[in-house]
This record gives sequence, structure tokens and C-alpha cells, in this order.
Amino acid sequence: MSPILSVENLIVQLKSSQTSWLGVNDFSFHVNPQETVCITGESGAGKTLTILAILGLLPLHASVLAGNINFTGKNLLGISDQQIRDIRGKEIGVVFQEPGTALNPVMKIGDQLMEIFRRKEHYSKKQAQDASLALLEQVGFHNSLSVFRKYSYQLSGGMQQRILIAMAISRNPKLLIADEPTTALDTTIQAQIVELIEQLKADIGLSVLWITHDLSLASRIADRTVIIYAGKTMEAAPTETILATPYHPYTQGLLQSMPQYALRHGCHLQPIKGICKPSDSQNRCVFYTRCDQARPYCKMAQPPLKQIRPHHQAACWFHQSVVTV
Ligand SMILES: Nc1ncnc2c1ncn2[C@@H]1O[C@H](COP(=O)(O)OP(=O)(O)OP(=O)(O)O)[C@@H](O)[C@H]1O
Ligand SMILES: [Mg+2]
Repeated sequence: MSPILSVENLIVQLKSSQTSWLGVNDFSFHVNPQETVCITGESGAGKTLTILAILGLLPLHASVLAGNINFTGKNLLGISDQQIRDIRGKEIGVVFQEPGTALNPVMKIGDQLMEIFRRKEHYSKKQAQDASLALLEQVGFHNSLSVFRKYSYQLSGGMQQRILIAMAISRNPKLLIADEPTTALDTTIQAQIVELIEQLKADIGLSVLWITHDLSLASRIADRTVIIYAGKTMEAAPTETILATPYHPYTQGLLQSMPQYALRHGCHLQPIKGICKPSDSQNRCVFYTRCDQARPYCKMAQPPLKQIRPHHQAACWFHQSVVTV
């Protein structure tokens, strides 16, 4: 089975007036058809930059230095701005974190939805209205006409996020990319959004790439989880494998800082010391300074991403350290 999306050895450089650094540094992962993949890692790890690179939306001071991004057989780094605009929205739907800022505050919800169908699909007004109301029903609004007539400020954060999900799936994309879509929401609403995306996945056969810093959320929703640190893939495996046999000390640290893990194992929460910084110029494992299992040889070079068992990859020199949690 070919992946729907594959990102290989992606490097994104950021520049300021004085300096430049790598926000994404040799990051690889893939998403198979109808699969949910979570990319998980701390703040600043390069998750959003990766998504922006896939979508051709990097800010002016950021650029792709190397790598491949392949979506359904198309090289997204080798196509025109117009072609990537056509793919965005049509073949790839996107939901970002802050629903409040993504909606137009001076247009009614219905008009914003209708505009997509009118402009992109050339529907008549009646067709666009029917399609918009059907879409609102599909994302769980039973009072679709009332929501259709409202402005975004009249809706809660969870309702706004439902509208953005509606917009993202309006043109039947193959892939939905969601960048921390539930971070700004309380936990009950978060659970409803997770359920909605699961439902849509089953109904319309979406593949989902979900970005989250929350490994416990990933453990609930992802078929596979990819752990990113300082712009690099640290570990990638089916989620149950990551939870049962985390291989990389960073993954183990993320698990030990999960309240559910501490509760289940009757131990104290153990946050990983220090913060995630972009890769420094030193040729050592990027996690070396924070790793509680580091060995002298870990500062000799960055470990490559290796297949350690079928469907399980990790980048760590300390290969003996398979720990069962
Ligand atoms: N627009 C920008 N200008 C300057 N630096 C940026 C910009 N966007 C990201 N960076 C830097 O690139 C690196 C990766 O950032 P990115 O936003 O991708 O992290 P993230 O994993 O999405 O974090 P978070 O969980 O906080 O959203 C960080 O070092 C960040 O400071
Ligand atoms: Mg981000």
C-alpha cells in the first residue's frame, strides 16, 4: 500500500537578520490511506513548520532546504503556487488551533460556507445553501439553519472548531491535517471534536494527520505515532507499540510525564528536564543534553533513524534500552 503522504528528510531553514537555524532538521514520516497519524513532541519541535511546508504556507523568512514531500504521487515541492493552492482545500483539508481567529467575524457562518461552494465548485445559490446546511448537519449541528444564520462570535469555541472542520471537509479531501485542533478547548469539548473527526474518518474515508503535543491524546486517536524532537524523527511506530515498548529515552520521558501513566504505575510525574531547542551545530545526538540514559558515545554523532523491528523506527545509539512500561 503506497502512503497518501510521505515526507522524507525534510529540512526547513529559518532566517533572522543576524542568524539562521533549522526549525525542521531531517524529519521523515508517512501517512497511509485511511490512517490517523499523530505527530507528537514538545513546543518548538517543528510540528507546525512541517505542516506549513507541506501546505506551501511557510512564512517568507522560512524555506525548505532539502527533502521530499509526496502527496498521492505528486511532489509538492516541485509544483506551482497555483497547483498547491488547488490541492489545499480540495485534496487536503486543514484545521488550525485557534478557531476564533480563523473565521471571518463580519460574515455569517452560512455565507462563509456558501462562498466555498459558490467560488470553488461554481454552485448556484440554492445548491450552495443546501450543501452548506448538509455540511453543518454532518459536523453535528442538528439546528443547522440557526447556526447558518449566526456570526462566529455568537458560537462557542467548540462550535467554531466544528465550523472549521466543516470547511476543511467541504470539498471531500483525501487528507485532513489538524494542527492542535483541540488545544484551545476544554476537555469535554475536546472529546467531542475527537469523536467528530473519528466519525468523519469512518463516514468519508479520510486519512488524518493530527499534530499534538499531548501524547495521551495521541494514544487515544492515532493508529501510528511519530515522535519529533528538535525537528527530527526520534521514533515512529504503531501507537500501541509506542505505549507498550517505547524505545527512545525521549519517548519514555514523554510517557513518564503523562498523568495517566503515573496513575497506572503508581509513580510521581516526571517531567523531562530542560527545554526543546532547535538542533545546535554540534554533531551529537540532539537529545543528549536532556537524556538521562546518555552514554559518552552519544555525543560523537546524531544517531540515524533505524528500523528496530517491523514497523518500528527509532534514532538512538543506546539500542539495548528497550524498556517495557
Ligand atoms: N514564524 C516564525 N519565525 C521565527 N521562528 C519560528 C517561526 N515559526 C517557528 N519558528 C521556530 O521554529 C521552530 C519550530 O517551531 P514550530 O512552530 O514548528 O514548533 P511546534 O512544534 O509547532 O511548537 P508548538 O507545540 O508550540 O506549536 C521553533 O524553534 C520556533 O521558534
Ligand atoms: Mg505548532
